[in-house]
Amino acid sequence: MRVAAAQLSTAATIDEAAHQLGALAKTCGDCHTMLGRPWRAIEAARGQASGVQPTMIRHEWAVSQMWEGLVVPSEDAWKAGALGLSEEPMSPEALTPGKTPLPRVGALQDAVHDLGRRAQSASKVDARVKLYGDAMATCAECHGWLGGGPHGGG
Ligand code: HEC
Ligand code: HEC
Repeated sequence: MRVAAAQLSTAATIDEAAHQLGALAKTCGDCHTMLGRPWRAIEAARGQASGVQPTMIRHEWAVSQMWEGLVVPSEDAWKAGALGLSEEPMSPEALTPGKTPLPRVGALQDAVHDLGRRAQSASKVDARVKLYGDAMATCAECHGWLGGGPHGGG
């Protein structure tokens, strides 16, 4: 776990860091499996609503379930997160209201939902680690394009 965390802290790019996160989560899950301890149940998803912000809040819930899926590790949490991520894509127009949609943004939005679909059928932990990293990199890239993303800390 320390080795994976050290690699994460020295990642040169967001893309690299995103992929290191999945590897880190796997080391957590390996130890928890070895020690075989019980875990809390899955949190319910936020209600579905249209619009960018509610969709993003659900995306955030979905990736946190996928994280738990790797860390606990939990089959149920992974599947719930993957399903959440695969929900209907938003239109690129909704993401850039009043402007010409950016093709790259539309592709990234589709990529998120495609990753969700692939995550639902991935059963091997290494494939899940890779998909988790791909998803995090996709979130970060779109937020970079549109200046979106969590506004934590004000
Ligand atoms: C070397 C073994 C080991 C590693 C590595 C490890 N854990 Fe744990 N973890 C434990 C043990 C043992 C417990 C149970 C502690 C207890 O019950 O008091 C635990 C408990 C937890 C809990 C509390 C669960 C609850 O029911 O509230 C969380 C959250 C957690 N670990 C997250 C992580 C994360 C995230 C990582 C990786 C970054 C990680 N752990 C890596 C052994 C490990
Ligand atoms: C196609 C572009 C795009 C992708 C992909 C994307 N986001 Fe976003 N995200 C946005 C935009 C635009 C906003 C700003 C929305 C606003 O402020 O109304 C945002 C805002 C957010 C917020 C802040 C919501 C709030 O409460 O204000 C969170 C959390 C978030 N995204 C999580 C995610 C996660 C997790 C992923 C990946 C699974 C993701 N996003 C993927 C475009 C995207």
